[in-house]
Amino acid sequence: MKLLKRNLKNLFFLIFHFTLSLPCPEMCSCKLVNSTTCLESGNFVVDCSDGELSDQIKGLGDANALDLSRNHFELRQVLELVREMNNLNKLTARWNHIHTLDGAYLPVSLRCLSFSNNIIESIRKGFFNHLKNLQSLDISRNRIEILNDDIFIGLIDLKYLDLSGNLIFDVSNWIGSLTELRTLVLSRNDITVIEDYTFQHLHLLEKIDLSLNRLNHIHSKAFLNLHSLKLLNLSHNHLERVPYALKLLKLESLDLSHNSIRIVHEDDFCFSITNELILKGNKLILIDSQSFCQLHAQILDFSHNSQLVYIDRNAWINATSLTTFNLIGSKLTALEDNLLNSAPNLKEIYIDNDILNCDCGVNKLINFINTTNCIDAPSTCKPRIISHLLPNRLVVDLGGSVKLFCRAVGDPHPNIAWNGKLPIIGRNLEIDFLEKKHQGNYNCTAKNVYGQDSATVTIIVRNLHAKVKIISIL
Ligand SMILES: *[C@@H]1O[C@H](CO)[C@@H](O)[C@H](O)[C@H]1NC(C)=O
Ligand SMILES: *[C@@H]1O[C@H](CO)[C@@H](O)[C@H](O)[C@H]1NC(C)=O
Ligand SMILES: *[C@@H]1O[C@H](CO)[C@@H](O)[C@H](O)[C@H]1NC(C)=O
Ligand SMILES: *[C@@H]1O[C@H](CO)[C@@H](O)[C@H](O)[C@H]1NC(C)=O
Ligand SMILES: *[C@@H]1O[C@H](CO)[C@@H](O)[C@H](O)[C@H]1NC(C)=O
Repeated sequence: MKLLKRNLKNLFFLIFHFTLSLPCPEMCSCKLVNSTTCLESGNFVVDCSDGELSDQIKGLGDANALDLSRNHFELRQVLELVREMNNLNKLTARWNHIHTLDGAYLPVSLRCLSFSNNIIESIRKGFFNHLKNLQSLDISRNRIEILNDDIFIGLIDLKYLDLSGNLIFDVSNWIGSLTELRTLVLSRNDITVIEDYTFQHLHLLEKIDLSLNRLNHIHSKAFLNLHSLKLLNLSHNHLERVPYALKLLKLESLDLSHNSIRIVHEDDFCFSITNELILKGNKLILIDSQSFCQLHAQILDFSHNSQLVYIDRNAWINATSLTTFNLIGSKLTALEDNLLNSAPNLKEIYIDNDILNCDCGVNKLINFINTTNCIDAPSTCKPRIISHLLPNRLVVDLGGSVKLFCRAVGDPHPNIAWNGKLPIIGRNLEIDFLEKKHQGNYNCTAKNVYGQDSATVTIIVRNLHAKVKIISIL
């Protein structure tokens, strides 16, 4: 009997709750929702979006979520509307006329807040300070240029922050207080540099999106302490080298697509990536030996590097996790057996097969691709130098530097030697400070038991200041 009474009371409360929240404000629609990040099951959601509204809305009552998107509200009006909504967990006011975050307080009960697609230029100091329950903040697609140091200081539970599509150029002190953050979206801003220690207090951060900025330098300790980071997106930036700073990370996925990286050097990827490495759409020409000390990735995407002509046979060793390798849109003429043998679980290679030379560089590859022009690739063959890496003639200013890579395919693997004005050790012709005496021909020869191939580069040292010097002597 007692139990029944309690149930009746609950039932009564439910009915009461419904009648309290409904009917819905005019011009809006209302519903109850299942639990989400911002809301619990049974929460009351008022949707006033797309209403051409700019006036007071009556009867918002105890709503837990309020959507004001695509109206004509200014911040003052929004604050007025939500002033007494003490149970408001989610407020969405995208596509309105909000231009400054200033003024009275938002309800402290807020967990999720979006002001994206407004015209916000500045945020008053302390505006967010009391929002200690806020977990998700989206102020993307506004006109924010500068964020003051302590701007997010009260957001002690913030897990998701989206600042994409603003005019931010400086990632510095404002970020330090966000110690609970898991996801940081900073794409489509004006960031050029990431300084040392930028993320040092963000131990829990799992995803950083820095795509579509103008990044050209990342300092070597920029990613210190990012122990939880899984996904780093650096695509569509201006990086010319694989950043050294990455060596501090253990990632699942790294997106470096659409940068200006030309060469992947030895040790560049000597850190762990377990899922996917994307280097699509760079300016790659060469991927050198031991670029990947231990390759753990399953997917390598090197597609759309239209100048990529060579991947060293020792680029990786023991790449047991690798299953997919994308080379579409490259200029590769060979992919040596040794490289593919070091990736025993490789299942898919994507390559434009009409560019391959029918020589020893395709033996193993034939298992993967249907190439009609190369049914009986030779099992042994004489060396072939990758001539695209070596210009015939190179004009360099006095005092400039030169680095040339002589690489060849062949079976057995050819020995490579340079002959020229100076003794050169190894496969690279490297001169740091060019003097007049360096001018001349340099001949690279690749030899194995079946024959040899050679290529010659003429280096011309140009004395830019010659005229000036003569005048000063006079
Ligand atoms: C809400 O949750 C209930 C029970 O978990 C489920 O039956 C129902 O389909 C869900 N409704 C929606 C709209 O997701
Ligand atoms: C990285 O960002 C770009 C541009 O915003 C996007 O297209 C791409 O899918 C992202 N990469 C990953 C791995 O999420
Ligand atoms: C290659 O990797 C596998 C699995 O990671 C390991 O068991 C094996 O010892 C490695 N072999 C060599 C030659 O490093
Ligand atoms: C390769 O080509 C042959 C003959 O054209 C065809 O029978 C076969 O299915 C093709 N294999 C693949 C993997 O496309
Ligand atoms: C380069 O050197 C090799 C070996 O000395 C020689 O056979 C070859 O003719 C030279 N090539 C050129 C282009 O000078």
